[in-house]
Amino acid sequence: MNQEELFKNIISHSKEYGFIFQSSEIYDGLSAVYDYGQMGAELKKNLRDFWWKSMVQMHQNIVGIDAAIFMHPTTWKASGHVDAFNDPLIDNKDSKKRYRADVLIEEHLAKIMAKADKEVEKAKTRFGEAFDEALYRKTNPRVTEYVAKAEAIENRFKHALEANNLEEVRQIIIDCEIVCPVSGTKNWTEVRQFNLMFSTSMGSVSEEASTIYLRPETAQGIFVNFLNVQKTGRMKIPFGIAQTGKAFRNEIVARQFIFRMREFEQMEMQFFVRPGTEMEWYNYWKETRMKWHRALGFGENKQKFHDHIKLAHYANAACDIEFAFPFGFKELEGIHSRTDYDLKKHEEYSGKKLQYFDPELNQGYVPYVVETSIGLDRLFLAVLSESYKEETLEDGSSRVVLSIPFPLAPVKVAVLPLVNKDGLAEKAEEIVDMLKYDFRVSTEAKDAIGKRYRRNDAIGTPYCVTVDYDTMADGTVTLRHRDTMAQERVKIDDLRQILLKDLHMSTLLKKC
Ligand code: GAP
Repeated sequence: MNQEELFKNIISHSKEYGFIFQSSEIYDGLSAVYDYGQMGAELKKNLRDFWWKSMVQMHQNIVGIDAAIFMHPTTWKASGHVDAFNDPLIDNKDSKKRYRADVLIEEHLAKIMAKADKEVEKAKTRFGEAFDEALYRKTNPRVTEYVAKAEAIENRFKHALEANNLEEVRQIIIDCEIVCPVSGTKNWTEVRQFNLMFSTSMGSVSEEASTIYLRPETAQGIFVNFLNVQKTGRMKIPFGIAQTGKAFRNEIVARQFIFRMREFEQMEMQFFVRPGTEMEWYNYWKETRMKWHRALGFGENKQKFHDHIKLAHYANAACDIEFAFPFGFKELEGIHSRTDYDLKKHEEYSGKKLQYFDPELNQGYVPYVVETSIGLDRLFLAVLSESYKEETLEDGSSRVVLSIPFPLAPVKVAVLPLVNKDGLAEKAEEIVDMLKYDFRVSTEAKDAIGKRYRRNDAIGTPYCVTVDYDTMADGTVTLRHRDTMAQERVKIDDLRQILLKDLHMSTLLKKC
């Protein structure tokens, strides 16, 4: 199965098992907007909890808030979003498809670098053990030629973006002979900037109505509350403020399922530091966040850092943690050193001082900020793509299993009476009642037990507990493990302790 087929299968599996539905599907859907179903909502909540606990509960110097989506419109003027939150767009005149010009160029660069990597891979197989990759990359003429070509385009692109020279961005696309993936032609329009914020109005028409925006990032809710939290929480620098919540962007090129949506959820943390120490904290958070991703059990080769070519208007250093989605390595999380840009701008526009008095230095200053920002929906897609497995079993049958890390699984335990008679279902209910205070537990009696195991594999339930006639006689049940399908006999009295060991969120948190 190639990656494209795999991705299609993941999308239909998500729908079939109640993870994700197209929004307003009965009206043919709303483009790039999705609803989470009964399984999806649980998984999403668990991912959010994992992030919140690892950030807030595990750090004494980080607190969480929940700011409103609507903010005073001047917020977005101050933050630069009204003037600069734009995507450079280009249309292909033949296919009438619209693209982000920067993405077209970045994908072209990635293709050139992939050619260099292919040369290295070929040489690695040819030379075996004795292969010195670093030396080969430095000296092989074909590899160095690819790298030089990519660097030259990258530099030209960087300068064009910095100078906001959209003519030049278009010329790079032409010169690189980038074609439209749909029409295959180079018949491009000019490049235009398009603001991504959704606006609406507050107040009735007869009153003074004012334009307000749906927040395009949660971060500004943290910045405007910086002093409120610092003062009331008696926070000492360095400290962080975290929040999770909806953000909205009028994405023009919205593709790839829940990867790029118009309404999505962010989990952001702003870490306020003493000016001059920001690079130290930037590196600290890069490592810490990568460790967090590794705790999810993704392989080492599944994530990588990608430094930004063009820094956002507020940053002096920025990188992404990219994940190997079925459609390639793409941004999952951003880590940004945002300097004192936001707080200073809010000081300027509000006329209020947003300074911290540092008792150690005996002076006040506007703190610098290092931000970690991850999209919850993208994380959801990463976990889903990584967990989805189509397996052929020893007896020739097949199953789809979601090997979601245990503490994150939507349902933790399914309690299944072997048959729906002779008091077995009632016994199962008793076990559900015992476990429901600790875990999300389900029970169902319909269909053969094998079918019920498969249904639970398909939603990633780590354990099935089977109640049979022996249960009624000796108080034991069969505990079936999702990944190995191994079964063992355990006492009902021991069940809770056995399950707690594997299913509790602390098992993941200890790896962060
Ligand atoms: N406060 C900084 C900020 O918003 P960003 O790189 O624009 O930075 C952060 O967004 C994260 O939000 C991204 O890494 C991504 O995971 C998620 N994200 C951004 N736009 C998204 C979209 N349209 N759909 C889903 N997730 C998105």
